[in-house]
Parts: sequence; C-alpha cells; structure tokens
Amino acid sequence: MTSLLAADQLSRGDIETLLHRAAALRDGLDVRHPGRVVGLLFLDVSLRTRVGFAVAATRLGANPVTLSAVRQSTLMGAPETLEDTVRSVGAWFDALCVRHPDAGAAARVAAAVATPVINRGDGQAEHPTQALVDLFALRQHVGDVDGLRIGIVGDLHAMRSAHSFATVLAAFNDMHVRCMGPAGLDLPEPAFAALRAAGHVVERLNGLELDDLDVIYVAGLPAETAVGTIDDTEQARFRITVSRAQRLADHVRVLCPLPRVDEIEPGVDELPQAAYFAQTADAQWVRMAVLDHVLSGGPFGS
Ligand code: CP
Repeated sequence: MTSLLAADQLSRGDIETLLHRAAALRDGLDVRHPGRVVGLLFLDVSLRTRVGFAVAATRLGANPVTLSAVRQSTLMGAPETLEDTVRSVGAWFDALCVRHPDAGAAARVAAAVATPVINRGDGQAEHPTQALVDLFALRQHVGDVDGLRIGIVGDLHAMRSAHSFATVLAAFNDMHVRCMGPAGLDLPEPAFAALRAAGHVVERLNGLELDDLDVIYVAGLPAETAVGTIDDTEQARFRITVSRAQRLADHVRVLCPLPRVDEIEPGVDELPQAAYFAQTADAQWVRMAVLDHVLSGGPFGS
C-alpha cells in the first residue's frame, strides 16, 4: 500500500527504513524530488504538522500546495463532500497529506483518489507520522527502543498521538508499557490488543507512577473528555510538575507530541529529562523521510 493511513501498517522493516533515512537526511544526505507537488489538505488546526510538511517538501525540492478553505461548509455557498473535493483535485498531486477533524477521513480520501495519501491526524483516531517522530526521538535521546519501560500519560481514549505511538511500540521487543490516566479514558482496544499480541507487559493505572520508567510520553489531558469534564484537581494528578520531574533518574526522557496546555509545567523544560522540543525540532527529518518514501513509490507494510 502506498498510502500511510494508520500506525498498524508500519512493519518493523518500514520503521527501520524510515528512521535510518531520517537520520541520513539529518546528517546531510541530499535527496531531491524536483517538479513533484505535495498537497497539504489541512481541514483542522495544525501548526507543527502543516508547516513541518511544507518545510519537508521544500527541503526535498518538491512544491507544497496548501488547501485549506475548501468548499465543505454551507457558509461557503456551494458545499461539497470531502470525496468530491479530492476527486476534483487529487490527481494534481504526487502525494496528498490530510489533517481532518473526523476519524477515518484520510481513509475516505485514499478510497476516492489514486494519489498516495498520508494521514496527518484524523479526529481522535490516528497520527501515524507523529508516531515515527516519537520513535526517532526515542532513538536520539534514549537509544535502543527494544526493552524500554514506557509510560503513556493522559486522555488515552481521545489522544490520537497516543494511539499511534502505542501501536508502533508493538513492532518492538520486550516492551513494558504503562498507561496512566483517569478512569474510563483507556487506549482503544486495538492498541491494547496490538501490544498484548506482541507479548509486551501492559499496565493500566488510574494514577501517576513514574519511578521505574525510562520514558514518559505525555499525550495530553484536556478538560473535556468522553467521561465528562475533568477538573483541575484530577488533571493535576497526572501533571508532570517540576517536583515530580526532579525525582526522575538522569537517563529518563519526557516526550510530548505538543502542543502542550498545562500537562507539563513550563519549569520542566529546563530539566535535562525534557526532550519534547528537541523531539519536535527533529521531526523535520522524519517528515522528509516519509515524503521521500512516498514520492519514491515505496510501499508501507513490507
Ligand atoms: N503534534 C502535532 O500534530 O502538532 P500540530 O497539531 O500542531 O500539527
């Protein structure tokens, strides 16, 4: 399959290929796709992913074209379906990146056009390229991913980055994954099932237990959730505060897909365990690797 729609498409081989390519691009590998055009169909808010893929396309010598105010709102006078929009414009592009508020939207686009589609975040479902960014950060800041003890914190029901991150961990060996968040906001069952099928130890805690972890992945805990409003007292139980972070071992790294609201205290940024801004800065190499792979016709799931 030449589209990347969900994290469970990424085999260990795909992951290694893409992470090695990202590291090579960071180290100066010059790859060019002149004359290719990348469509950025961003119908939901995004800073990092939208601008990041425009930068990645530009660095590869391709041309990014952003489509944002498309005719899908009755306010625009002539609304049309997502399918009609992409059937109209999809063939103009060599790759189509999609961010959309609805789960499954990227798959709908892929079903409607022959152009390879990259899911850049669809509702509360998936964010597979963020998962690759997260793995690249693990390699950079922690080392070998196999055998790590990883905590994932927040609203794991709603946070698509957590879904895709947990899913790609299933491709590694001997992982210990601790899911921490309020009751009722668990990872979706397919992500749990993928981790368990891989033989990983999976814990589910309604509290924060950080002492024996190597990595803390902060997925975010908004006030409005599927189980109702989470008040500040409850949010604070899962917040990475300076005092909690100061008790972490030196080798531990805190990752976050960003944006942050208040799930990590700003003072944590100054601690050596904070790796999230470096994680985001390095994302450009991963986005270039993904685009290079897609523009070269490389399949996923090999
Ligand atoms: N991490 C991430 O997807 O950020 P944006 O929503 O700003 O793209």
